[in-house]
Amino acid sequence: MRVAILISGRGSNMERLVDSCKINNKSASIELVFSNNDKASGLSFAKNNNIKTSVIDHRIFEKREDFDHELDKKLRENNIDFICNAGFMRILSEDFVNNWFNKQLNIHPSLLPDFKGLDVHKRVIESKTNISGCTVHLVRAGVDEGPIIGQISTNVESNDNEEILAGKVLKLEHILYPVCLKLFSDNLIQINEDKIIYSKEAIDQLDEINARLGK
Ligand code: GAR
Repeated sequence: MRVAILISGRGSNMERLVDSCKINNKSASIELVFSNNDKASGLSFAKNNNIKTSVIDHRIFEKREDFDHELDKKLRENNIDFICNAGFMRILSEDFVNNWFNKQLNIHPSLLPDFKGLDVHKRVIESKTNISGCTVHLVRAGVDEGPIIGQISTNVESNDNEEILAGKVLKLEHILYPVCLKLFSDNLIQINEDKIIYSKEAIDQLDEINARLGK
């Protein structure tokens, strides 16, 4: 499966996806790292790893749809089959989402459907909830919406601040995302009208990371 990763900044999830495809996921290969921001620091990791990079600055387009159209074109030029959004901080238009229906994953640093959107960890701490985590889900038109593929949870301790919680959740993201991508590239899950049908192997893999890391 030819995969493109979309980033807007640091790209630590992208790094883990790239590493996992080199080490233990032979059914997916990262063919393109795309960013809407030429200052995204993750781009240099991709270049150093001989992965093709591409940048299109969204600010030069008047309409969201026009940027999305160029992105779609770039993905098709590179024969991409599947997209992983990894800290890609852009809302995608409905047409784009539909063009990549069930072929686009996103990672979000909360236990969706709770705490969609920005400033997640700040809001989690303010809410006084004692549990948070991360979610990998298929992309649908609403922000941080779509069928959930996998989640890992962690305790929110009373002395956690935003930074501590972000660090704890990010460690879990780095484990969860490669596993979820591999479930797709190994054909271990099916989707039927937004319902995820897990194979026994997929359930075992998700249970294993949750038993090892989750709370
Ligand atoms: C990650 O925590 C990711 O879950 C979050 O941005 C961070 C990107 O870090 N994404 C979202 O909030 C999307 N709604 P990274 O660039 O180091 O992977």
